[in-house]
Amino acid sequence: MNKAVAISPGKVILFGEHFVVIGSKALAMAIDLYARAEIKESSWPSEIISKETGIKGKITKDLKILGPKEIEPIARLLSVIRSWGYNLPGFKAIISSDIPISSGLGSSAAIASAFSVAYMKIIGHELDKKNLVTLSNEAEKVTHGNPSGVDSAAVVYGGISLYRKGEGVISNINELPRNDYSFIIADTGVKRKTYLPVNDVISLSKRFRSILSLMLDAEDRVIELAYESLKKGDYETLGQLMNINQGLLNSLGVSSREIEEIVYEGRMAGAVGAKLTGAGRGGAVIVLCRSDTENEIINRLSSLSSWVKKIKIPPYGTHLV
Ligand code: MEV
Repeated sequence: MNKAVAISPGKVILFGEHFVVIGSKALAMAIDLYARAEIKESSWPSEIISKETGIKGKITKDLKILGPKEIEPIARLLSVIRSWGYNLPGFKAIISSDIPISSGLGSSAAIASAFSVAYMKIIGHELDKKNLVTLSNEAEKVTHGNPSGVDSAAVVYGGISLYRKGEGVISNINELPRNDYSFIIADTGVKRKTYLPVNDVISLSKRFRSILSLMLDAEDRVIELAYESLKKGDYETLGQLMNINQGLLNSLGVSSREIEEIVYEGRMAGAVGAKLTGAGRGGAVIVLCRSDTENEIINRLSSLSSWVKKIKIPPYGTHLV
């Protein structure tokens, strides 16, 4: 029987969330938490089972959904693939993921891209990274409304991607230049929908057009310097830039008390940089620290977070296994 399995890492946004929606670049990094899609060719209606959430649903050959709305993104992927001229085989898909949902860590983008890679394998075709980002982002439109595409790009490319909406991935670093610094994620445990803060930032940018235009320039400069610092291995500068970026995000109104508490506790425990990652108002905080301070920071953040994890950066994005 025709069968394929693909995995995709999750992601954090190091710099540029929200600003990327309204025009700046973003710097996003894959993380070693994974979504997995296992697909077997079968008859229609096709069946989708999500292991962790217990969600089950079916999709008919004419792409009607029989089941919960959570499977809509998969129907959108199938509809785009069909619009590209492919015949769609029926299937049974089992989705699993260790990426927390609604925490800004790319769980929906990882599931969409892992599903897409495995399903295209069943069809007998491999998409290049650019088309895979475009396809996965279609599912993201169902989930998030008006995504910039940075989440899909980060999980598809792996490593660290410099991205701009409309342009795609401008460059990609697969390996960090040194390993005496660590990245830690601390989750506030507050779940939220990405599109709400995104819509608020878009409204703010219309109301205070001239101020936002200056902030956008500042953010682009922060990201240019951050990218240079990252390539040189100058993590002290990188951390300071993360702190500046957190200030800008706070000005956009997407931080929260829970985020700020983790950010400040992390900095007081010795972090060189700490900021929210993703849409904000909950979700996760990304912390950069010297590796010899990582245990102290993890300990101190544990009391404020639903979970804390040191992350590694997988060099590969979504791929077949
Ligand atoms: C979400 O991970 C990142 C945002 O910038 C939204 C987007 O880019 O689509 C908040």
